[in-house]
Amino acid sequence: MSAEPTTQGSQEEPATLGPDAAQATQQQMDAEIKRIHDEYERLKGQGSVETQPRLDYAPYRSSILRHPTKDPFHTDPETIETFSPAFGHRDVGELESDLTIQANGEPIGERIRVHGKVVDGDGRPVAGQLVEIWQANAAGRYIHKRDQHPAPIDPNFTGVGRAITGPDGSYSFKTIRPAPYPWKNHYNAWRPAHIHFSLFGTDFTQRMITQMYFPNDPLFALDPIYQSITDQKARDRLVAAYDHDSSEHEYLLGYRWDIVLSGSNRTWMEDEGDE
Ligand SMILES: [Fe+2]
Repeated sequence: MSAEPTTQGSQEEPATLGPDAAQATQQQMDAEIKRIHDEYERLKGQGSVETQPRLDYAPYRSSILRHPTKDPFHTDPETIETFSPAFGHRDVGELESDLTIQANGEPIGERIRVHGKVVDGDGRPVAGQLVEIWQANAAGRYIHKRDQHPAPIDPNFTGVGRAITGPDGSYSFKTIRPAPYPWKNHYNAWRPAHIHFSLFGTDFTQRMITQMYFPNDPLFALDPIYQSITDQKARDRLVAAYDHDSSEHEYLLGYRWDIVLSGSNRTWMEDEGDE
């Protein structure tokens, strides 16, 4: 398992796949999503509440052949997997959480702060946690050889940062608001703006990955990745809140996003291998 953020989930599907990968229209996609959601609402009425994404979710096309079709084989982790580097403040510098100062010039785009707390299912802070983020730039472009869609790379923005949570479980990143970007799931498919998050945990088997979204994105309803979580409340937990108190005068806008690692209010996390 790699902790290298750009190797996993940096984009959902490369923009350079052949045209045959994007045949379905948005209307067809909307109808597929609606069918699954209607069926879920019926099941929910019978008391079945889902908080995690469907692995077998056909609207997310590239996941059809790679999602598990059998129950996972449960086994105790190997000894080596129960250890991991203990990241501390000496390993991750303060400046690594500032994605706006990684080059000689300032990146282009809307400067933002994304902050929040990492807590467990009982609301207790999770301190000393390695939090990594990766994201597209203000034009919706990743620095990744498989992202070749016609939007500019920003020479002053890598889109990668990391931080260690404080004693109260808090983390904070200064960055640029990412833009939506196209992908080849279906014709004219666009991902809502999002920031990928990884939480490393205390051993190699605990790493969790998810995505944070921005409030009121018009692409939510159209996006099969976001909609693969069938429950609206569970989807809502992936959306940051605008936080005026953390906005800074004439400088940046603040967003708050808390991450709950377990329990019924847990933040949805991708399974290993998801993009
Ligand atoms: Fe992405």
